[in-house]
Amino acid sequence: MMQDGEYRSKLIKLLNDQARAELEASTIYSRWVHKAPGPEERLHLAEIAHEETEHWYGTIKVLEGVKVTPQEAKDYAGRSWFYTVSHVLIPRYRWVDILMLTFLIDRGAFLLVEDFARSSYAPWARFAKRVLEEEVGHMDFGNDFVRAQVDKLGTPKVQPALNKWWRVALNMFGPPTTRHTQQYIRLGLKYRSNEERRQAFLLSCEQQIKEMGLQVPKLYRQSYPFI
Ligand SMILES: [Fe+2]
Ligand SMILES: [Fe+2]
Repeated sequence: MMQDGEYRSKLIKLLNDQARAELEASTIYSRWVHKAPGPEERLHLAEIAHEETEHWYGTIKVLEGVKVTPQEAKDYAGRSWFYTVSHVLIPRYRWVDILMLTFLIDRGAFLLVEDFARSSYAPWARFAKRVLEEEVGHMDFGNDFVRAQVDKLGTPKVQPALNKWWRVALNMFGPPTTRHTQQYIRLGLKYRSNEERRQAFLLSCEQQIKEMGLQVPKLYRQSYPFI
């Protein structure tokens, strides 16, 4: 399959995007370890930061196996609005934002890695299965600590952070389908469209939000891009 230029280029693109996302998560969570508000939070966040670093490292090892040339690495360097948005927000991050990242963004990551765990590229599928197990822990951390934050501070203090990250999270999946969607599915590199992943996200999130006594944020637009 790796003789096929189309397959190889799509695989490299996905691996590159994934490596960048994992590195970003590793950097953000690492920065917050020493600012965690309590011993449990610190311990768990340090574990998450370590695991994200392993996810990044494992992903670049899979990329090495594909034997990417420096030019290809440059060609596929991702430029995503998501990072621009999060970098603009970063100086104003608070602890509750970090919780929302684990609660919402790691859930989005989980759903994407679910696709990769069924990848037609076996080394990637094997590694993605390990990543999936750890991403479950990140979401659990998000659930438990957002709930604890609500108990401690009350919903009015937590709801604004949820409102802020909700749109970012829904937009994270991208447009419902792209011109590449069918290609990825045909090549066995993904098995769902962006919209199917977004719907799975809503299904897994909305109930939790209500159970915590928070409200599912209202949207000004009901379709992508959500504002
Ligand atoms: Fe990760
Ligand atoms: Fe994660």
